[in-house]
Amino acid sequence: MPPRSRCSPSFRRPGRGAPGVESPASRKGTPNSVPYRTEAETALPVCRELGISFVAYSPLGRSVLTGSVRTPDDIPPEDRRRDHPRFQGENLSRNLELLRHVEAIARDKRCTTGQLVLAWLLAQGPDIVPIPGTKHASRLEENVGAVDVALDPDDVRRIAEAVPAGAAAGTRYPEAMMRALYL
Ligand SMILES: NC(=O)c1ccc[n+]([C@@H]2O[C@H](COP(=O)([O-])OP(=O)(O)OC[C@H]3O[C@@H](n4cnc5c(N)ncnc54)[C@H](OP(=O)(O)O)[C@@H]3O)[C@@H](O)[C@H]2O)c1
Repeated sequence: MPPRSRCSPSFRRPGRGAPGVESPASRKGTPNSVPYRTEAETALPVCRELGISFVAYSPLGRSVLTGSVRTPDDIPPEDRRRDHPRFQGENLSRNLELLRHVEAIARDKRCTTGQLVLAWLLAQGPDIVPIPGTKHASRLEENVGAVDVALDPDDVRRIAEAVPAGAAAGTRYPEAMMRALYL
């Protein structure tokens, strides 16, 4: 039997996280971004039930949500994103179509698409902690600006509806890694 995925809610065990009892786990890390959120949506209610905060990694969809990659050639030669199916061929075209919906809402909110999708996570509760990655100070500043983008529950719903869970094209990781992680 494969080991339990660290990204599935199967980490729940009877008796864990009862009110007033400190849970052995205080944080759970799962990729969570507007287009790649299927596992997160399954895990989040369990985390909340057990009092575990949720670290949302790759919250920018590994940059697909920033609009900085329009063709595979926009990715530097040694960058591992080149191996990710979401950036390849027809998958990238479909993901760029999804991005267009996000861009329309970002224009309304007068922010960048990266800020919008980070704000979307922040607006869902203080127990969700997005950790965007960048090597550039200017992008760090841009991403931090997400805290100033105010989204109400209708905005959160509108963004989720614009990019339904599971709509992204291309698996979360390259095929070999999916197998290695039993995904
Ligand atoms: N625990 C785990 O298993 C796990 C797995 C994956 C990731 N993580 C962690 O999660 C964090 C973030 O994940 P991630 O880096 O995979 O994905 P991400 O935050 O979704 O995206 C990062 C990518 O977006 C680009 N980017 C960032 N801000 C941007 C902006 N404002 N405009 C345009 N492009 C922008 C970055 O390029 P530049 O660097 O060139 O700006 C980088 O290629 C990292 O700290 C990583 O270590 C953890």
